[in-house]
Amino acid sequence: MPPSPLTTVPVALADRAYDIHIGPGCRREIGAYARAAFGERLKTFVVVSNPTVWELYGGDVLQSLRAADIGAEVFLMGDGERFKTIRTAEKLWDFCIERRIERGAAFLAVGGGVVGDLAGFAAAAYLRGVPFAQMPTTLLAQIDSSVGGKTGVNRPRGKNLVGAFHQPVLVVADTDTLRTLPPREWNAGWHEALKYGVIRDAALFDRLTAAMPFRLGPDRVPTAAEQEFLIETVAECCRIKAGVVARDEREAGERKILNFGHTVGHAIEAVTRYRKFRHGEAVGIGMVAACDIAVKTGVLAAADAARVAEAVRRVGRMPSARGISAAEVVAALKYDKKASGGAVRFILPRAIGEVGEYAAPSDAVLRRCVEWALKNV
Ligand SMILES: NC(=O)c1ccc[n+]([C@@H]2O[C@H](COP(=O)([O-])OP(=O)(O)OC[C@H]3O[C@@H](n4cnc5c(N)ncnc54)[C@H](O)[C@@H]3O)[C@@H](O)[C@H]2O)c1
Repeated sequence: MPPSPLTTVPVALADRAYDIHIGPGCRREIGAYARAAFGERLKTFVVVSNPTVWELYGGDVLQSLRAADIGAEVFLMGDGERFKTIRTAEKLWDFCIERRIERGAAFLAVGGGVVGDLAGFAAAAYLRGVPFAQMPTTLLAQIDSSVGGKTGVNRPRGKNLVGAFHQPVLVVADTDTLRTLPPREWNAGWHEALKYGVIRDAALFDRLTAAMPFRLGPDRVPTAAEQEFLIETVAECCRIKAGVVARDEREAGERKILNFGHTVGHAIEAVTRYRKFRHGEAVGIGMVAACDIAVKTGVLAAADAARVAEAVRRVGRMPSARGISAAEVVAALKYDKKASGGAVRFILPRAIGEVGEYAAPSDAVLRRCVEWALKNV
């Protein structure tokens, strides 16, 4: 029997349903959770991680897998968004082929969203699909990217343009691993958490705004209240995402609301070649831009947009946006993979906690809103 985590969030997807286990120290039980989720047939994990994360948590993961009698072939990819490429996936596939990894094996992603997206995509295609598990180690990955089955790689003109839907069999989110996160990674995660508040849960938005800035460090044991806030927030975000994904796995409709802030966010990442902003930071700016678009198009009250901008600012400092051309960002929007017939559509809030899908305003309005957001966060 695997141990009880503090919280489990189920993702209700019929024959592909799975659990997200959340709690401090869960990584030490990854073997037991995996044994329970995959059954006795699992012999080996192809573990995908990067040197930064592996140095911190690899020992615990290997020890736990060994205790559950699960072998491990460890593939370390480069650290960073620029390694989320088809080239890295090819290296991983060759690594598996050289080691004669067969269908009975599964992949395990240990790391942030970059590792999770890449490993999930590689698993979706290897031998036409092997199962995989996620052990997310960033706040962003725990509340967002490890849940819902979107996997993929970037292309030079846009993020995540090549990918697959491939649901994990298991997600184990150890909130203790977050204590080693650099401040900007906390901030990036909090922006995505705010997103859930704006799209679905005004109370969550208020709780988050009041708690910002919130970061834990490795040198201090978190208080009970801090632990509870973190676990509950991760769980709440996962519940919102799990609910949306269960109702609309392939993004035919409702799932699009999760893209709030991402249309402009992805364009900002693309024009800065994925180097200047963390993904979550770009989403933070994207949310502020989307709120401004909503105000300019009469969808949202200016006071609510100001609350979102203030919440984003409270999370922490953004890198300077000097030198980024709003016109270039607007041009890059046209590569958004959710564009239909070349027309970009936006998820815009009508109030905090409620969003809808709208056609884009003119390029001139878009430019002004992007410019404003770049200058004001
Ligand atoms: N699939 C989805 O549904 C989905 C959703 C949102 C975002 N994403 C993707 O997620 C990616 C961003 O993920 P991210 O923000 O986790 O970035 P990331 O994976 O690059 O991780 C951020 C940094 O933190 C380091 N790190 C990870 N865990 C750590 C820990 N516990 N302690 C110290 N350092 C640690 C990493 O090595 C890296 O340098 C983007 O590629 C984005 O497109 C995917």
